[in-house]
Amino acid sequence: MAAPCASREVRSTALALTGRLDVAEFVLTKKAWSGVFEGDTDPRVEQFTESVRYDQRLAAQDIRGSTAHAHMLASVGLLSSDEAQQIVAELAQIGREIEAGTFVFRTELEDVHMNIERALIERLGDVGRKLHTGRSRNDQVSTDFRLWIRDSMDRLDVKLRDLQRAFVGRTERDGDVILPGYTHLQRAQPVLANHYWLAYCEKLERDRDRLVDCRERVNQLPLGTAALAGTSLAIDRQQVADALGFAGLLANSLDSSSDRDFAIEFCFVLTLIAEHLSTWAEEWILWATSEFDFLSLPQAYCTGSSIMPQKINPDVLELVRGKTARVVGNLQSLLVLIKGLPLAYNRDLQEDKERVFDSVDTVEACVELATAVVTGAELKRESIAARLDRGYLDATTLMEYLIGQGVPQRLAHEIIGQLVGQAMKLEVPLAALPLASFQAAHAALDEKVFDVLGVRQAVEAMTSVGSTGPAQVARQVALWQQRLS
Ligand code: ARG
Repeated sequence: MAAPCASREVRSTALALTGRLDVAEFVLTKKAWSGVFEGDTDPRVEQFTESVRYDQRLAAQDIRGSTAHAHMLASVGLLSSDEAQQIVAELAQIGREIEAGTFVFRTELEDVHMNIERALIERLGDVGRKLHTGRSRNDQVSTDFRLWIRDSMDRLDVKLRDLQRAFVGRTERDGDVILPGYTHLQRAQPVLANHYWLAYCEKLERDRDRLVDCRERVNQLPLGTAALAGTSLAIDRQQVADALGFAGLLANSLDSSSDRDFAIEFCFVLTLIAEHLSTWAEEWILWATSEFDFLSLPQAYCTGSSIMPQKINPDVLELVRGKTARVVGNLQSLLVLIKGLPLAYNRDLQEDKERVFDSVDTVEACVELATAVVTGAELKRESIAARLDRGYLDATTLMEYLIGQGVPQRLAHEIIGQLVGQAMKLEVPLAALPLASFQAAHAALDEKVFDVLGVRQAVEAMTSVGSTGPAQVARQVALWQQRLS
């Protein structure tokens, strides 16, 4: 490995002789920060401190940020308009090369910011060297990262909406299906399949709301807060904010360069999305078992076993559930990362990006695949319907019928509980008990109980706002169809 300060002597001589640094020689300087350093850096430090391996994902945002910065420097007179134009054009060229994969990122230049800036200097000389006026990598990285997160949020929002659409799409196929609803994974009360689909739409809607809300805090401009104290140069931060679509300026330079709360909040939102999907995945893994037999999964999203020829395994769902662990882990890492950091910037913060990238990649993939599975799965209607009379799904409605006859709830609960006990012993549904049993339990339980019992009646009896009653659900379906159209 070449010594980082190899050109030191050449530079000193040039400075002594001419009073200025020769451009070509200064370019030879290995590190942008090497001025004060006298010795070599341990070769291991380069590998240990570099981030370009992963933060090159910020390249497009870095170029956007630098372009806006260059325009601003020109409008406040810190660059001539010709210089700004050269910088902007070269940044665009570098951007094209990065996109085409022909740009070579160099580890020794640490990170994406220095790689791009160095390329600019190599191509434009002193003009390129002016770009870093009035900014530091501390505000630059935060700006780039905010832009990147903003882009990810917008992409993710579209994907979440697609998943919502997939759930709403099911209402057209399975509108008439009644499912057993569970609490504690024990049969509880019947619900309309449409109610079930919309439950996930609601969860995803809150996730989308959280993205919008978090985006407001992400969308504040750090650039121009410089290293930690701001700058004495007459920059115009508002112009940069306007150019980049930031809603406001971070007000305190110390705060701006030191915090990653915006990234952590985003990771929390991603974590909740992953948690929601893991609930759904777990449910569908169960539903796809022979024991439940509610669902056949699209084979394109299953895999087989190398030893058991009959196996069709729900691996995609299992990994949606399993990958939630790493998303939770990433959030945990970030929370620990910032704990106890003194103001302002600390290099620890460089560890933030991989965690965020990983959570975004993971959640995006999970949402995309979930959309495909939700769209492609088939409810096994007969199998579901054949066992709806199990689990006394209508017991609560019968209790409420009794309450309607003026019986206090606690008493009604006890009476129906005893009837369920009798039916359990006989291994029959409530509707199969003789009228005499109902009459003996309470005089108000006459032959009308048979109009109340059964899952269809139990579902249709529901009227409260937000319940699974057909009128309520129909209204919600219409609302969702309209919202997502
Ligand atoms: N790669 C660095 C990061 O991600 C950029 C900021 C470096 N700032 C510094 N003062 N060394 O945090």
